[in-house]
Amino acid sequence: MDKALEGVKILDLSRVQAGPSCTQLLGFLGADVIKVEDTGGGDRTRWEMAHNEHDSVYFTIFNNNKRAITLNLKDDRGRAMLADLVKWADIVLENYSKGVMERLGIGYEWLKSLKPDIIYASIKGFGNWGDWSEFKSFETAAQATGGLMSANGSPDGPPKGVSIGAGDSGTGLHMAIAVLAALRQRDKSGEGQMVEVSMQDGITNLMRISLIKPLSVGEVNTAWGRVPNVFRCAPGGDDDYVMIHTRGDLWITALAVMGKEAMFEDERYMTDELRGERADEVREIIEEWTMQRTKYEAFEALAAAGVWCGAVLTPVEVINNEHLKQREMIVTVKDDYRGDYRMIGSPVKMEKSPVTVTQAPRYSEHTDEILKSMLGVSEDELVELRSDGVII
Ligand SMILES: CC(C)(COP(=O)(O)OP(=O)(O)OC[C@H]1O[C@@H](n2cnc3c(N)ncnc32)[C@H](O)[C@@H]1OP(=O)(O)O)[C@@H](O)C(=O)NCCC(=O)NCCS
Repeated sequence: MDKALEGVKILDLSRVQAGPSCTQLLGFLGADVIKVEDTGGGDRTRWEMAHNEHDSVYFTIFNNNKRAITLNLKDDRGRAMLADLVKWADIVLENYSKGVMERLGIGYEWLKSLKPDIIYASIKGFGNWGDWSEFKSFETAAQATGGLMSANGSPDGPPKGVSIGAGDSGTGLHMAIAVLAALRQRDKSGEGQMVEVSMQDGITNLMRISLIKPLSVGEVNTAWGRVPNVFRCAPGGDDDYVMIHTRGDLWITALAVMGKEAMFEDERYMTDELRGERADEVREIIEEWTMQRTKYEAFEALAAAGVWCGAVLTPVEVINNEHLKQREMIVTVKDDYRGDYRMIGSPVKMEKSPVTVTQAPRYSEHTDEILKSMLGVSEDELVELRSDGVII
């Protein structure tokens, strides 16, 4: 069966998370992704946070379903081989800091001169234009400048980041949409284009709910935090919590599940605002019930009745979660080099484009194969290129 993006060819110059998370997702959907790495060790996630002598999970977690090649792009021969791969590609994606592509002599004009309908996908911390566009960025800088850290901090404490990759993987997701839209437009017009996502823009887009109040009444959004929504469960350990959305009519539904029908008409807790003002009392009412149950029992009983809620899972519980396994979100990847390992699956499910998560490439694993089969490089040339440091 063909995959959705079968035949789509991506030349991936990106590193770390924002770019690789995008190309991994497109790889899940069937795109042929060739990751180009430098000859000085490649994507630094290969060794950062490594837990053994093999590649770090920090690398494998964003680089399944790709092939990997090394090319020294500061060498004319490296650039010449890249040029041939650009002619092969539909999409060139990068997340260098602004100006790197041009300094390497591989900017958009060069790409277009080789492949007029190329789609050039550029991820930047602050975009390719605007006052801050020269600045480098990463996850927490994006969270800081997109308003997320401030909005996530408590009113009496300092700003605080969130642990999800909202800045990095969030940008990757936005870029996947941009790339697919550009492919669709190219199908119709025959023309390529440059598509761009800035990490600060991406966070700002994800912040829409927190920007309602600043946009409407010019205040920060404090109301959302007031009604308690996380409650302790049995046996009362550090990780024993359930999240229950007690706003609106769900307050009544939750009370019914808890056998507290007598409180339906209690004026003190009738509205979200009153429940926010009496947060400690609300917590006591709910925990009287939740503390008699594990977080899973509380979650499943309330959710079955239609209450929006969730057991608060730790990351370890997430990777062992049966439901996520049934959904193929936790999969076992066959890897003949590193040994089989558990990995995160594809969150995108398609009836006619099922995903097999394949092993992340070793450093420079496919250099010879790609250069020989796609560019016609001979064995002797490979030896010379290798001894000159153009490839690894
Ligand atoms: C992530 C980031 C902060 C890293 O900064 P950095 O490590 O200083 O890397 P830069 O992108 O500035 O530069 C990369 C360098 O590697 C070189 N390089 C990269 N690939 C190469 C290759 N295949 N061959 C030769 N050189 C290569 C570049 O030429 C550049 O060198 P130069 O500064 O001499 O021109 C920066 O790239 C950035 O802000 N990117 C955009 C936002 C982003 O994606 N952030 C990360 C989210 S996970």
